[in-house]
Amino acid sequence: MEKHIQTLLNRFSFASITIATITLIYLLSQTPETCLSDSNPNTQIRFPKSSCDSTHRELVSIEKKNKRIWSTNDWHKKVTSFQQFFNEIENLGFLGNQSKVICVSAGAGQEVMALSEMGVIDVTGVELVDSPPLVSKADPHNLPFFDGVFDLGFSAHFAEALFPLRFVSEMERMVRIGGFCIIVLQDCFDDDLKEIKGLFRRSSFVSAENVSLIGLKMTRIIMRRIKSPP
Ligand SMILES: *[C@@H]1O[C@H](CO)[C@@H](O)[C@H](O)[C@H]1NC(C)=O
Ligand SMILES: *[C@@H]1O[C@H](CO)[C@@H](O)[C@H](O)[C@H]1NC(C)=O
Repeated sequence: MEKHIQTLLNRFSFASITIATITLIYLLSQTPETCLSDSNPNTQIRFPKSSCDSTHRELVSIEKKNKRIWSTNDWHKKVTSFQQFFNEIENLGFLGNQSKVICVSAGAGQEVMALSEMGVIDVTGVELVDSPPLVSKADPHNLPFFDGVFDLGFSAHFAEALFPLRFVSEMERMVRIGGFCIIVLQDCFDDDLKEIKGLFRRSSFVSAENVSLIGLKMTRIIMRRIKSPP
């Protein structure tokens, strides 16, 4: 009996501590109303009058942020490296200015910028966290695009995919029959290559080559989308 009560009390005190902590965090995160109304009752607090208002302010800060990021040496080097990489793809005949390209898990969007600067007109970048205007927010495992709408799917972050099979099948789905999926990854040995090729259920193998990209030794795997098996 006593043990039972002890357990109950323990539970109760744990609950109290939790509630107290949550309340404290809540209070700390709130702006006290007294700060808003000021001593002068005529002071007007300016809230955004419409959604346009706040969007506008956000855009200014994004522009500033991008200006800062895009002017760094690191950014410039990466974009240049991606351009060299895509020039080779262009020379192979798998990419042109009219190609519709999707970059999956595009990070901050260096490859998107590289393609755009090369003259590729229709480039889409997606990532779990968006980086406007280059990269939109979308889950690589569940992409909001119709089947076969892209000529080329590219990813430099396949290696970080939580569900590689799902990642690959989404990429294949969005690429038209006859289009290409290209992924690059580090430390891809022959066994890995075999395994990755196996993930592409609706594509045939074109080539695998060790290349240098953004200062890393990477393996470039090219697959061509074929008719899905019946
Ligand atoms: C692609 O566009 C770029 C930039 O507009 C241009 O310099 C290049 O010649 C174009 N390439 C082709 C093959 O038309
Ligand atoms: C790429 O290099 C790795 C060693 O780092 C090697 O095992 C692999 O066979 C190479 N792949 C290709 C396609 O040449």
